Amino acid sequence: MYDIDAIRRDFPILSREVNGKPLVYLDNGASAQKPQVVIDAITTAYSHEYANVHRGLHYLSNLATEKYEAVRGTIARFLGVANENQIVLNSGTTEGINMVAHGWAMPLMEAGDEIVLSVMEHHANIVPWHFLRERQGVALKWVDTDSTGALDPQKVIDAIGPKTKLVAITHLSNVLGTKVDVKTIIDAAHAKGVPVLVDGSQAAVHMPLNLDELGVDFYAITGHKLYGPSGSGAIFVHKDRLAEMRPFMGGGDMIREVSKDEVSYAAAPMKFEAGTPGIVQTIGLGVALEYMMGLGMENIAAHEDRLRDYAVGKLGGLNWLQVQGQTPDKAAIFSFTLDGAAHAHDISTILDKKGVAVRAGHHCAGPLMDHIGLTATCRASFGLYNTEAEVDALVDALELAHELFA
Ligand SMILES: Cc1ncc(COP(=O)(O)O)c(C=O)c1O
Repeated sequence: MYDIDAIRRDFPILSREVNGKPLVYLDNGASAQKPQVVIDAITTAYSHEYANVHRGLHYLSNLATEKYEAVRGTIARFLGVANENQIVLNSGTTEGINMVAHGWAMPLMEAGDEIVLSVMEHHANIVPWHFLRERQGVALKWVDTDSTGALDPQKVIDAIGPKTKLVAITHLSNVLGTKVDVKTIIDAAHAKGVPVLVDGSQAAVHMPLNLDELGVDFYAITGHKLYGPSGSGAIFVHKDRLAEMRPFMGGGDMIREVSKDEVSYAAAPMKFEAGTPGIVQTIGLGVALEYMMGLGMENIAAHEDRLRDYAVGKLGGLNWLQVQGQTPDKAAIFSFTLDGAAHAHDISTILDKKGVAVRAGHHCAGPLMDHIGLTATCRASFGLYNTEAEVDALVDALELAHELFA
């Protein structure tokens, strides 16, 4: 039983008003709100349990280290990973993918090598690969989505050639809501000896995962979309890739010994976690993931599927609204434009007046926007606490925007 009223009460911000209207928060794709248990965990950590981790021998340092390190196991459980030493803690997906680009890909790739990407990647899974293109002549090979926003896995597989060194692909598009059949891609890429990095920033929020079964090489997640604090996150790196990867950042915590002439490194994953980490953020992320697992990822997914179906019906009834991304099993993420060429920013401003928070812009997905021929869309992205009544509130606000611009 998914008790949506009780769940909503867990998130204090959801009871506030915006512009004199009840908040309808539909910007979860950008960042999700935090349940009270996460807020409490942050307060407790700073009020009673704070010290730096890993270094001290005093009580508080040991306590903070224990709490922080326990999150590695929580993330492993959440992701379906048996060996938690394959979880590298970090500040989020952007850091995770940059670590792989600098530490694993750069030393391994040379001019003429190729990276296969889908056209619907977020800039966090594009720009680090552009660094390799600019700096060492690596070629980026793009695979397009079809007119419904679907990505045919066979097209990705066909793009893998003898020079391909990596496939870097999203599991779920932050703009279209499209889910990608990454399992088929991973199996075929591995048959050709090519590792696969999956950007799980959105997928981890909306679907149960089992990375051990998926057999992925790299899988990036980001805490603030998972109802946890910003500045928290992790990347799963398969142990064979960990063994190949060089540290990206150097500093405290990641070394065994340092002298004037030499340095030796800690074992993975510590080797890839230089400096004082986001201690409290990570502790908060652990609590957020426990909260999600407490609700059950299957239950969250089923709730969001119901919301998606309801929203598809309602938005589909607005013949002056164009929704990008029409795949039937998509996530409850809707990017849209309105007839009359009203700019996405203007639409979102009107929705905001009605208390409805959506995102407007290019959604950090330049190649996709080029592909669909738009400079900006509005995006309503739903989360575990949203309701059908909020879909109705979105539709009411859109009707107002349509009247004003028609
Ligand atoms: C699909 C996808 N990848 C990567 C990111 C980047 O995440 P972060 O900014 O938390 O590193 C986002 C965030 O919007 C995203 O939606």
